Amino acid sequence: MKLVIIGGGSSYTPEIIEGLIKRYPSFPLTAIVLVDIEEGYKKMSIVGELAKRMIEKAALPIELTWTTNRREALEGATFVSTQLRVGGLKAREKDERIPLSHGMIGQETNGAGGIFKAFRTIPVLMGIAQDVAEICPDAWMINFTNPAGIVTEALLKYSPHKKVIGVCNIPFNMQQSIAEVLAVEPSAVRIEFVGLNHFVYGKKVLVHGVDKTKEVLDRLMAQAVNYSPANIVNLGWTETLLKSLQLLPNPYHQYYYKQEAMLQKDLLSYEQNGTRSEVVQEVEQKLFELYKQPTLDEKPKELENRGGAYYSDVACSLMTALYNDSHEIMTVNTLNQGAIADLPLDSVVEINCLITKRGPMPLTTGALPPQIKGDILKMKAFEEQVIKASISGDYHDAFLAFLLNPLVGDEDRAKVVLDELLVAHEAHLPQF
Ligand code: G6P
Ligand code: MN
Ligand code: MN
Repeated sequence: MKLVIIGGGSSYTPEIIEGLIKRYPSFPLTAIVLVDIEEGYKKMSIVGELAKRMIEKAALPIELTWTTNRREALEGATFVSTQLRVGGLKAREKDERIPLSHGMIGQETNGAGGIFKAFRTIPVLMGIAQDVAEICPDAWMINFTNPAGIVTEALLKYSPHKKVIGVCNIPFNMQQSIAEVLAVEPSAVRIEFVGLNHFVYGKKVLVHGVDKTKEVLDRLMAQAVNYSPANIVNLGWTETLLKSLQLLPNPYHQYYYKQEAMLQKDLLSYEQNGTRSEVVQEVEQKLFELYKQPTLDEKPKELENRGGAYYSDVACSLMTALYNDSHEIMTVNTLNQGAIADLPLDSVVEINCLITKRGPMPLTTGALPPQIKGDILKMKAFEEQVIKASISGDYHDAFLAFLLNPLVGDEDRAKVVLDELLVAHEAHLPQF
């Protein structure tokens, strides 16, 4: 059984390798191939050497190699994971800095920055999905590439490959943190998630089947639980908001419900440390220094400074569940198929699913709670528009995507930021 990791030169790769080693007895891979583009080859070799040392230490018969030849790598693959960043962290820097310089939230998956990340990413992922459909049509594609929900919907609707699942660590992090504060095993906690990637809500929290939603909301009000990843500041929710919402927001909701405070906070940290991308570039540099050390044979603790830490737990658990037809419940991005009554059947939603070897089967959650229905419908319409513009490359499609986004709004500001981003990212936007 073979796994191909596209974007293999990523600093996150040691994490997925650790997850695979841990799960070897129930997920017996025989081959792992890292794939990256020419510019990523050096990083990929460093990560590849470390991954080899990790596998060697575990004394497992997994052959690990790396290449820039994607099509060759895909031959015979059972799983393909995609964790790439078109244009690298330099492009992310522009997504963050340009909107911020116009007084707009500058975030890599939300607002103007997120839209441009989608514009750069969707065409590339389409190409990968085409290769997968042609070369290893039975393989599951596990997509981490952000904006993960939008990218997954674009692939499921418009690419020839239909075995695509989108993943994110946010639902997993929320489950872990809530388990910790309630002092129970994470596996005892089930959160009923409903919504979209980076716009997902916890509707109900069950612990060993007992409804603990109110208790968790109380803990959130008391700021006794924090499930923000390393990349998002946790400003804490007010009692008023939580009592009104009666749902668990995810950390990204702060950009919407606390827009002004988040903007001020981001502007301040931008002045002090540069954008998140610049911080991450430093973290990465240090990580690669560590990875280079020939004595290192495990994932270093410093990887926890990345917001996506523990993402591999999600990816590896999912692949293991698919492979073993485990029928476990996991939160993934997949086709709605009626699980959320108010959204189209072919929308991608982030939702709890039964994981079977035929794929994720979303669990019905019914109508959207009225307090979030309007926002979710609007966000979905926005996502559809982003996909449309990513494919058409039409200026007015792109402008409309900006207009529909709650973090952009104003038409004059939208135009200025859109025009500046189009120029800044020209090299990675062949469709425009
Ligand atoms: C969160 C999100 C990921 C995102 C990451 C960014 O974990 O769920 O989708 O990639 O943060 O972390 P970074 O360290 O790159 O800022
Ligand atoms: Mn995510
Ligand atoms: Mn037009």
